[in-house]
Amino acid sequence: MVAVAILAAGRGTRMKSDLPKVLHQLGSYTLVERVLKSCVSIQPSRIMVIVGYRGDLVQNSLLDNKNNIDNDNIPTLEFIEQTEQLGTGHAIQQLLPYLKEFSEDLLVLNGDVPLLRPETLKQLIDSHKENQNSATILSANLPLPKGYGRVFCDTNNVVTQIVEDRDCTTAQKQNHRVNAGVYCFNWPALAKILPELKANNDQQEYYLTDVVPLLNPVMAVAVNDDQEIFGINNRKHLATAYEILQTRLKDDWMEAGVTLIDPKSITIDDTVLLERDVIIEPQTHIRGWTVIGSGSRIGPGSLIENSQIGKNSSVLYSVISDSMVADNTRIGPYAHLRGDSQVGSHCRIGNFVELKKAQVGDRSNAAHLSYLGDATLGEKVNVGAGTITANYDGVKKHKTKIGDRSKTGSNSVLVAPVTLGEDVTVAAGSVVTKNVEDDSLVIARTPQTVRKGWRLKQSDIST
Ligand code: UD1
Ligand code: CA
Repeated sequence: MVAVAILAAGRGTRMKSDLPKVLHQLGSYTLVERVLKSCVSIQPSRIMVIVGYRGDLVQNSLLDNKNNIDNDNIPTLEFIEQTEQLGTGHAIQQLLPYLKEFSEDLLVLNGDVPLLRPETLKQLIDSHKENQNSATILSANLPLPKGYGRVFCDTNNVVTQIVEDRDCTTAQKQNHRVNAGVYCFNWPALAKILPELKANNDQQEYYLTDVVPLLNPVMAVAVNDDQEIFGINNRKHLATAYEILQTRLKDDWMEAGVTLIDPKSITIDDTVLLERDVIIEPQTHIRGWTVIGSGSRIGPGSLIENSQIGKNSSVLYSVISDSMVADNTRIGPYAHLRGDSQVGSHCRIGNFVELKKAQVGDRSNAAHLSYLGDATLGEKVNVGAGTITANYDGVKKHKTKIGDRSKTGSNSVLVAPVTLGEDVTVAAGSVVTKNVEDDSLVIARTPQTVRKGWRLKQSDIST
């Protein structure tokens, strides 16, 4: 079993942010959460996170969101403070007091390298063990290696040194083999030479990479997919990483039988689940813990977050948050469902309709210009155009109930708390303030008055 150390103490000056770099969000997870996620499946015996700059924030964020990272296999996170950020080598030196008895391997991960695949870490560890190395480092040959430390090997493929980009001579910069910032160390061997690190480099920092000449043997393992080692140092990198991640996710979904129309204009969080034969149309964004059932068509122009959509439903130019929609239902165009709303099957909600904390039974429709808040509708209810539930008295929210098969006329207001029974018809333009029993027609408006032959008097007309 290996222990894992995640380097997360740096400020990330190049991000120009008040937030520590590793807490920047990349899709549904922060950078450091992604690093953590990548190592969960190798089942580490311990996970140590080295924190420093605004360490309390990093610690709280990881503890708060641990559920999102799933897995009961994850050991309790240990946070180790690096009070001054004197370099990656200095960061690992902070582990010495905590790993006195530890005699196995230590996997070191940079907190700002978020796209690693678990398989890659496994390959690195396997190769490390197989070759009985003192250290094994992950490397890649990049066409544009700028910013990365360069890995130099001898003729036997043994790594002799790593030189940071800024410390490289022009000749050394021609070497495109870079250090990914992912290492497996034999801990006792590393622990012995860690105190020898010097800070004689351009940044005057203690570099972890400087342990290489002090250990033997050190080997490099090449990563299969160069994109995995992409490190985030500035906001442009963050955007590039997001793009890489999105391409990966979308390729996987298309492979799994989902149609994406104009994929570039679509974003999908990695917490989303899409069933077979889902169709996602352009300009659609699917976020958080969302599930879309098979045969459903989402978009164009929709945002769905933390919601469940059943099978064979459609959502057109609409926003749905924290809500559920059952099968064969049509949402939109221009609907907004939020606050734990639930819509049954074979319903139609759309053309400027807002639902807030509303339950709508099967085969009910609210097809035009309505607000239904804190409302429970039975089955086969028809909500007329412009029906509003007046749920707020200025202090509290109140509930509206509408029984099965009831119909509200256009432009009616249901002043909550109020209950309409089953098979009730509300006349257009009514303001309903009292409960209505089953099988009734309610007319709650001033009757129309017609004065035949009425005209303004000549003296009333101003000249
Ligand atoms: C580092 C490597 C470089 C490699 C690159 C890959 C060193 C000296 N260089 O460079 O060879 O190509 O990563 O992405 O290691 N950190 C601490 N404490 C510190 C300093 C940094 O915890 O005192 C953390 C940072 O929060 C970050 C990680 O270590 O998560 C890497 O630090 P960073 O300064 O970004 O190193 P690079 O210059 O990218
Ligand atoms: Ca970096």
